[in-house]
Amino acid sequence: MADSHTLIKKVAQKLSSARNAVALTGAGISVESGIPPFRGKGGVWERFDPMEYASIDAFKKNPAKVWQVLLKDLNQLIGNAKPNDAHKGLAILEKMGILKTVITQNVDGLHQKAGNTDVIEFHGNFAINYCMDCGRRMDTVSIDLSQMPPRCDCGGIFRPDCVFFGEMIPPDSLLRSQQAASQCDFMLVIGTSAVVQPAAHMPVLAHNSGAVIVEINPESTPLTGYISHHILLGQAGTLMNQLIDEVNQIMR
Ligand code: OAD
Repeated sequence: MADSHTLIKKVAQKLSSARNAVALTGAGISVESGIPPFRGKGGVWERFDPMEYASIDAFKKNPAKVWQVLLKDLNQLIGNAKPNDAHKGLAILEKMGILKTVITQNVDGLHQKAGNTDVIEFHGNFAINYCMDCGRRMDTVSIDLSQMPPRCDCGGIFRPDCVFFGEMIPPDSLLRSQQAASQCDFMLVIGTSAVVQPAAHMPVLAHNSGAVIVEINPESTPLTGYISHHILLGQAGTLMNQLIDEVNQIMR
């Protein structure tokens, strides 16, 4: 097995020659920005049962509870978070003309803040809420959270523009992701446990179309060794900096 430096050099070589690279990101890419992942040690689902707090049925049954227990905290965490080196690295790769699209399962908006311009938000975005009665859209920061659940002027309840368990992926996001995945020549899969479908199917589409698949994750996933050709084991920010350094040297 190649040592980690040799592997990064090899991945950088392949990435530098990519003309249509795509990134698929998950909660792990935002861990170094202070947002916890969902699964594993310290994960959100260790403290909260997702079916009790993150399913659409649970939200409809008791929106105040879901807002109070989960969404209020998430709002604060996301509100304070800034892009880390992994997000910034993806923006640099876009500027270099290598990376075309980011497909993200995250709802934190950090890819856009870092500067990526084509971001497909597979599970929506937490920055926007809409009224479940009249459909009025409001920035989350402008919503009065002193009452739970937060309400619109019409009396309806606000909900985040995110996909709850039990809801469909927005059809345009799904379609665009499938297209991007099947047309790319390189896919970076960063910080996802790759267990939630249909997002986890995007690397499979890319693999079946002949793309090089590289994971960045401190742990292996169900894709490792089957769908991904290489895994860079470690923290996304640190590894992204090393990868960008190598790509810069090759492109110089
Ligand atoms: P998970 O929480 O399932 O997985 C996070 C992954 O990030 C794991 O594989 C970790 O090993 C890895 N990780 C942790 N720290 C990291 C770091 N510093 N750098 C790189 N990787 C790191 O998150 P997702 O795969 O995004 O859905 O979860 C998918 C979906 O499940 C989410 O979008 C959410 C959740 O339920 C909805 O809310 C609909």
